[in-house]
Amino acid sequence: MKSLKELFIEHVVGEAVGRAAGGRAPRVMDLGCGTASYVPALMKRFPNLEYVGVEPIASSYEAAEKNTKDVPNAKVHFQLAYDSVPQEKEGSFDLVFSLSVLEHVKNLPAFIDLSVRYVKQGGILMHRYDLGHALSPHSFKERLHVWFGNNFPQVLPERQFVRYVDSEEVERLYRDSGVTPTKVTYHQMRSHKEFEKYCKDSETTAVNELFAWEVNHQAEISNIPRAQRENLFPAVAVYGRRD
Ligand SMILES: C[S@@+](CC[C@H](N)C(=O)[O-])C[C@H]1O[C@@H](n2cnc3c(N)ncnc32)[C@H](O)[C@@H]1O
Repeated sequence: MKSLKELFIEHVVGEAVGRAAGGRAPRVMDLGCGTASYVPALMKRFPNLEYVGVEPIASSYEAAEKNTKDVPNAKVHFQLAYDSVPQEKEGSFDLVFSLSVLEHVKNLPAFIDLSVRYVKQGGILMHRYDLGHALSPHSFKERLHVWFGNNFPQVLPERQFVRYVDSEEVERLYRDSGVTPTKVTYHQMRSHKEFEKYCKDSETTAVNELFAWEVNHQAEISNIPRAQRENLFPAVAVYGRRD
């Protein structure tokens, strides 16, 4: 069974693949890829894809290397996504994305700016982040980290950084870097996530149906007042197009 997050990234990559013209191999860059656990299934679904991941934590990078070692056309770089990525050409990716990363990024303008540099003209930028840490911290320590992240970001080291992210701030940073924001979508309803965990070892299609429901009802979801919307759907995806 695929998770809601795996279904989401397949959906986004599917859009980028559909746009890549002339049978050319579409290129995707994943900033803060963690262990890249979703990459083998993604590459199986889109065998034509070229995948480049970036990860700054040594243990996660090593796991990502392991997870992608038998996957053709997949490679991972060990670095923060503030610095140029060696051997990768700027403006050459059909899709640059991140998943559950923005809320941990201390220098958001530098991160967004770097992500924009690697998107080709007409390509897609998509950063999806989690508000769960900020809206429903699971411990006092997490609550404290979020408070410092929101109010005194300089105090927290890069690896412990976490904060609330405002989608309007992300859209403004897109514009500042030359990307037109195109849409914001909301995901991972808490009860859906719990249901997904409950049936993780079964072969049910119910989770695929939940994901399709999420996609089909974005217009209604976006009409819910903001605080309630973010509480109901704590994963937010901000899309843009590089003109
Ligand atoms: C919650 S994990 C998400 C990993 C993966 N994208 C996923 O969804 O499974 C957040 C990741 O962001 C990475 N990260 C945090 N700040 C970063 C930065 N400035 N540049 C690149 N990656 C960063 C962390 O190292 C960590 O692997």
